[in-house]
This record gives sequence, C-alpha cells and structure tokens, in this order.
Amino acid sequence: MKPAHSLKPVHSSILILDFGSQYTQVIARRIRELQVYSEVVRFDISAAEIKALHPNGLILSGGPASVYDKGAPQIDTEIFNLGIPVLGICYGLMQMTHHLGGKVVFTGRREYGAGTLQILRDSPLFDGLGAQLDVWNSHGDEVTVLPEGFAAIGRTESSNFAAIEDRRRNLYGLQFHPEVAHTPRGREILQNFVYHICHCAMDWTMGSFIEEACRRVRQQVGREKVVLGLSGGVDSSVTAALLHKAIGDQLTCIFVNNGLLRAREEEVVQRVFGENFHIRLKYVDAGERFLKALKGVVDPEQKRKIIGNQFIAVFQQATEELLDEDRRGKSRRRAATGSSVGKRGGYRFLAQGTLYPDVIESVSIRGPAAVIKSHHNVGGLPEKMHFELVEPVRQLFKDEVRQVGLQLGLPKEIVYRQPFPGPGLAVRILGEVTPERLAILRAADSIVQSEMEAAGWYYRVWQSFAVLLPVQSVGVMGDQRTYENTVVLRIVESQDGMTADWVRLPYDLLARISNRIINEVKGVNRVCYDISSKPPSTIEWE
Ligand code: XMP
Repeated sequence: MKPAHSLKPVHSSILILDFGSQYTQVIARRIRELQVYSEVVRFDISAAEIKALHPNGLILSGGPASVYDKGAPQIDTEIFNLGIPVLGICYGLMQMTHHLGGKVVFTGRREYGAGTLQILRDSPLFDGLGAQLDVWNSHGDEVTVLPEGFAAIGRTESSNFAAIEDRRRNLYGLQFHPEVAHTPRGREILQNFVYHICHCAMDWTMGSFIEEACRRVRQQVGREKVVLGLSGGVDSSVTAALLHKAIGDQLTCIFVNNGLLRAREEEVVQRVFGENFHIRLKYVDAGERFLKALKGVVDPEQKRKIIGNQFIAVFQQATEELLDEDRRGKSRRRAATGSSVGKRGGYRFLAQGTLYPDVIESVSIRGPAAVIKSHHNVGGLPEKMHFELVEPVRQLFKDEVRQVGLQLGLPKEIVYRQPFPGPGLAVRILGEVTPERLAILRAADSIVQSEMEAAGWYYRVWQSFAVLLPVQSVGVMGDQRTYENTVVLRIVESQDGMTADWVRLPYDLLARISNRIINEVKGVNRVCYDISSKPPSTIEWE
C-alpha cells in the first residue's frame, strides 16, 4: 500500500498503522485537529518504508483480531528499533507487548464499555491529567507480563497493565481508546504524545497545505495542460480553485450540463467560476443528448450506466473541441507574432477531487485493495482517455477541503453545499425521466431549498431534496377533482452518507413546504415526508 502522499512531507507527521479498527480514521482526525498531519497506512508497512517517510511518531491502531488468531495482522518488529516514538492503542498495545517479549493472553471475554484508569506514576503521556481518568475500553486480549524495560503507568478495574511505557525507548501503550468521545480527556493524552513525546510542530494548517499543494502540482504538471470535470460540488470546486491558484491558465474546467441538474445550477457554477474566478470554463449543454439516451428507461442502474457513458462521450468531445480552439488560437498568435507552436498541444492531465476517506478505504485490512468509489472516479475517464491524474486534495478530509475552499475565496454556497449525486435528478424521478417530469421535480425541489434556507435549516442537514414518485392520487382543488403526482420530501442528517436519519423538522416548516409545492407546482397534489433511516433504507430513492 502506498501512503496517500508520495513526496516527503515538509511538515511534522504521525503515521497511523491500521489494524482494522473502526476508530482508525477518528485517530487521524484527532491528530489533525491538533494541527499535526497524520496519515493512515496499512499495518504491514515495512520499517524501511516508514523510515523513508520521516514521521515524528507512530500510532498502532486497535483492531478486531486477537494476536493469537490465525492470520492475525502482525507488525514488522523492526519498527521498534527505528528510534521513532510509538503509541500502541488496544490491539496496537498487544502487538507491542507480544513482539517485545511480554505476555498477552486471550481472555475469551471482551471488555467493552466505560472504565476508570488509575494513574500509577508520572509519565509524559499523562502530563497534567491528575490521578484518575474516565476511559473507554473495547478489547479481548489482555497483557499479563510486561516486556523488559516497560513499566505500568496506569491500571483499570480489570487490568494491571492498562497503560504502559518504556520511556527510554519512547514506547507507550494504552489498552483503552483515547480517540473516542467516551474518553473525555483522551485528546490531552494524544496531545501529550504528539507534542511532548514526538515533538511535532503545529504546522498542519490549511494555509500551509495550500502552499505545499500548489508547489506539488507545479512540480507534477510542469508546463502541461490540465483538464477538470467541474460538477459544482465541493470537491471538484475546491480542486479547481486550488489548481487555478497553482497553474492559472494551464487549467481548463469542463462543466457538463446533463439536463439533470437542479434549478439554476448551471448559472451558479458559471457565475462563480467563469465570472468571479476567471477560470477558463467550457460549458457544454448536453441536456437533450442525455434525455434522448434516457428515453423509456426506468431501471435505476441502467439510468446510471447510460448517464456515465454519455458523460464520458461528451467530456471526450469537449476536450477535442478545446484542443481545436487552442490550435486555432495558437496559429492566430503565431501569425501575429511569428513565434513557433509549443511542443505539446494536448491535455495530459485530468484533475480529480478525490478525498482522503476515498483513499483510506483502500487501506482496510480486509477490504479489497485500492477500490475508489465509482462515482468519485468521473466515470472511468482516466483509463479511457489515458490521462495522468492530478489529485491535489487527496490528503484532506471533507471539513479540511471546506476550509481550503473558504481560504481560496470560494463562496459559502459552494463550500457548504449539500452533496448531489452525479446522475442528478434522474435518480430522484422514479420511472421514466421526461422533460415534463423534470420540470415538476425542479420546481418542487427549488421550493424545498429556498424554504430550508429561509428557515436556517439548509446548512444544518446533510441533504434536503424532493423526489417525484410514479404515483398519482386523487385530490380536490377548488371545486375540481384532481388526479395528480406525489412528491416526497427527503431530508436527512448524516456524518458521511453511510448511515443517516430523517430530520425532525418543525411541523410549521414542513407545512410551509408542502403548501407551497401543492399551490405553486402544477401537476402535484400530494406531498409526503420520508421517515425512514439508513439502513435499512437508502438516502436516494433509486
Ligand atoms: P444512498 O442513496 O446510497 O446515498 O444512501 C448515499 C450518498 O451518496 C449519494 N449518491 C450518489 N452520488 N452518484 C453519486 O455521485 C450516485 O450514483 C449516487 N447515489 C447516491 C447520495 O446523494 C448520498 O449523499
């Protein structure tokens, strides 16, 4: 597994060796909150590879295995001889003890839940923390004999070796999880490790990231041209702004209007990027083409496939048109100045807004290697068009990307916008996508957005949108009986889209949205509120 960055960092860093704990990403985030760069790598990274990365410290994560399980993940023991401070958490502590000559036993019962840690003696790890701490346990193995050179620095009700250290070698171990909220002073423990034991500087700031990322991009692309598929979402927008800062006019963005966008989406994107940022933006209105291809199609996966294929074709055509435009521009300039044409006319690089969580997923010790979610991968473009990838925000979590966007001057409406699926409204119109149904959904959805914004709810939820059902029902308007469409409101809260719950919106806001949709959107006479959580439901209806 290659670490997320391939160049030596110019800042302090902590490497987290992942043994498959659900909390590994949490550790990475906690460290970054301390303004120290952290990166997750597979547990089997070699000591030589670690050395080449020059981290200030290592954290061995927890994990579901027992050190005695057949095939249990084992560390390269040379890691302990590098002279780099190590903190083993839970399974990480067991690894450390097991490989350094101590004794670990499998108790057969998992200790899970809250506990109290008695601090037994002074340790740099517990500096400033007093004599007792509430901690959160989740482990099966237990240390019974310490390796040579180690001493216990804390014990819990169930373990005499719940916290250990070999101060001379800078090796520390905790049986509990300092990274979770149920260990209220865990942040201070991590802080002690990172600042006082590993001597990290607080140099991971978004300002320093931007400088470093620009330098790397310039180094990677030289004088070549880069193309980027701008969707208007946070990730591609921030990538565009960052690249523009790094390489200016060498970047061209292509914005494909697939006819499945929300109301006025194309206006916002063109205004922000073309007019405010002066980024070279090619706008392609391909709505008719997409709708034609979707005619008669009702199966959701087939819709996605058609949209993905159309996108590739349109993007490819747009790049060729760009090349033509460039060539024409160049020959005009040459005629005017008598200069010769540059060596390379093509677009060698494709920029993508791949984020750190997409990269981290490939680190999992059980999951398949290097799988990036398909919809983050602009529909297979890189392979198809032989592009080299530029992924400048690959090291960042979503909230960090947002901070970068703000620092680069992107407006809040872009930086904090809700996620919107690549296949757009096509997966929110159940059944066939037609211009008439698109118009109905757009109008209803736009009312949802404006009422959510007016009530101050838009930025408090993960997603809020309307779905158009292929269901008609009877209603009465004035003296007339109606037989019209049903719209569902889907408004959910979530951390990452993996799980979600419906939002308990105030009734008067729901009432306002419903009244407006039924009164203002022709063709709708019923509005329902989706009160299902994910799982077992999904956020989108298709
Ligand atoms: P589900 O419906 O799977 O959605 O609960 C989880 C998150 O993913 C988004 N989503 C998509 N995004 N292409 C995308 O780019 C897709 O095909 C797609 N399907 C779902 C969805 O909006 C939610 O945020």
